[in-house]
Amino acid sequence: MTAVDAESGGAPDFEPVAVAAHYDPPPAGIDPDRAKGWMKRLWPLVRAHHRTLVIGVATGVVALAIQAAVPALGRSAVDAALEGNRQALWIVFGLTAAFGVGRLVFGGVYRYQLFKLGWSVETDLRAIMYDHLTRLSFSYYDRTQSGEVISRANSDIRSLQLLLAFGPLISMNVLMFVMALGFMVYVHPWLALVALAPLPGVYWFGLKFRNQVFPLSWVTQARMADLATIVDENVNGTRVVKSFAAEERQIALLGRSAQRIQWANVEITNSRARWNPLIESLPRLGTAMVVLYGGWLAIEGQVSIGTLLAFSAYVIMLQVPFRMAGFVLMQGQRASAAAQRIYEILDEAPEVADSPGAVDIVDPQGRVGFEGVCFGYHTETPVLRDFTLHIEPGERVAIVGSTGCGKSTVARLLDRFYDVDRGSVRIDGVDVRDVTLRSLRHTVGLVLDEPFLFSASVHDNIAYGRPSASRAEVAAAAEAAQAHGFIGELTHGYDSVVGERGYTLSGGQRQRIAIARTLLANPKVLVLDDATSAIDVTVEEAIHRALYALMADRTTIIIAHRLSTISLAERVVVLDQGRVANTGTHADLLATDPHYVEILARRSHGRPRGLSDNGDGKLWPVGSGH
Ligand SMILES: Nc1ncnc2c1ncn2[C@@H]1O[C@H](COP(=O)(O)OP(=O)(O)OP(=O)(O)O)[C@@H](O)[C@H]1O
Ligand SMILES: [Mg+2]
Repeated sequence: MTAVDAESGGAPDFEPVAVAAHYDPPPAGIDPDRAKGWMKRLWPLVRAHHRTLVIGVATGVVALAIQAAVPALGRSAVDAALEGNRQALWIVFGLTAAFGVGRLVFGGVYRYQLFKLGWSVETDLRAIMYDHLTRLSFSYYDRTQSGEVISRANSDIRSLQLLLAFGPLISMNVLMFVMALGFMVYVHPWLALVALAPLPGVYWFGLKFRNQVFPLSWVTQARMADLATIVDENVNGTRVVKSFAAEERQIALLGRSAQRIQWANVEITNSRARWNPLIESLPRLGTAMVVLYGGWLAIEGQVSIGTLLAFSAYVIMLQVPFRMAGFVLMQGQRASAAAQRIYEILDEAPEVADSPGAVDIVDPQGRVGFEGVCFGYHTETPVLRDFTLHIEPGERVAIVGSTGCGKSTVARLLDRFYDVDRGSVRIDGVDVRDVTLRSLRHTVGLVLDEPFLFSASVHDNIAYGRPSASRAEVAAAAEAAQAHGFIGELTHGYDSVVGERGYTLSGGQRQRIAIARTLLANPKVLVLDDATSAIDVTVEEAIHRALYALMADRTTIIIAHRLSTISLAERVVVLDQGRVANTGTHADLLATDPHYVEILARRSHGRPRGLSDNGDGKLWPVGSGH
């Protein structure tokens, strides 16, 4: 008896797959109301860090108030000096020094707090996004490019973070603007009016700049996503690229994509170069006018020299928010585009999700039922039409059909990767839409034809579904999948790290590890979708023999092209035109169903290893007893 076997007779309670790790979710999500603006939608997340925000803003206000008070002090100093008042001069000196120290301390605190806020929200957003991505359905991934998701999860989140760190800083500069303005109006309203005259122009040019840059930042970000997709495909598809000697073409493709980004960025820089200097220099016109009109007033004795000096200092201070305005507008546009791209993902509702009253499958029997199932990936082209199939607990059924007829689709529907359009898929008589996805996927184990391995050790790959499994259990599962032998020959045995996607292993070796991985999770219903296509016939037989020994009471669905595999099933189901065309034992079908013979024969043409497995070209599989 092996550990896998012992496991199958274990506790009847539902034991979820792969939940060893625990991660604290972010403190809040984004506002789900799509009608709201992007900042409002982000607000719950920012509010979750209100301590940091409040401390940052409070210390920032103090720091800026101090900064705004310095020219006023300067005014007193100059006037005191002109009056020859030494004592006042000392007082002003003391205050200025104290303000300097205060500004230093508060400036440090508010910078730290606000940047911390930006990074915290970035981390939360990343967690929320990844959490959401893991819940999105297969249909989403079918139509989405990986680069698109990667760029949204990276550069778009970064854009938001930048704005979050600088946003409050800049809004506080507005505060400084108000304080400076207050002083100016208090001292001399007319002089203030003259100083501020160019500001409406600043607003107007700012608006024009914004309207130009917004579409461009959207374009840049979308193109960054295209580029990420190309890079991703170049790296992951490098074997195909090289085998077709298509490096030049890929480089050209990448070059073109990079040029498109360059174009958009240069356009943005162009508008920036055109509008920003204008926006920045308009307030200088104000300074010039203050010098003229203020000087006039001073000559007439209406304002003191100190006031005039303080005034010029404030006009310069007024420019700071305006100088920053260019950056804010730009970053704001970028962040707004980024936020919308992020929300696009977060607003995508998972099509397949637990229904409100979903229950766990506890102690499953392994009865499988498809009742009049209609399904199409795109509704106009149905793949399954009125597909009905019942499989008893412990039965071994092979599904056979021509390529593209929907065999893998049947497997995907059973594990509820997609929901049926009509009819129902049932486990032990219960609709799969009424049970939790976690328990369903624990009950139905799927081994796919393209086994994906993680770049981790062989042990970790096999134990993926049950990270707590002991080494003996992992070895037992590997043994059943006929993988133990070759794993022992690897340099570090079970601790050998397989390359990305398992590329350091052969196709058949990868398939065997994938089978071991599913066996260890110990599903009640096992679906092998072309899972042994790259494995030698003799090894395949050994795997199936091990499977029978280990899981007498396990329902097994075998999807296969190879005769040797098909013949291992107790019952063969022929899938044609989206429904069950015939069903029976391999021998019966072979004798009575010409269509079945035709499918097998076609297979043997398509895949030489099919019918000629036993070398004589006849329709007898190896080990079928013929
Ligand atoms: N994710 C998808 N999105 C849209 N159409 C799909 C998707 N997957 C499969 N199809 C289409 O659905 C049909 C059935 O596909 P399926 O993979 O079930 O075939 P199959 O019988 O497993 O074929 P094979 O024997 O080649 O593995 C095919 O016509 C295919 O083009
Ligand atoms: Mg398939």
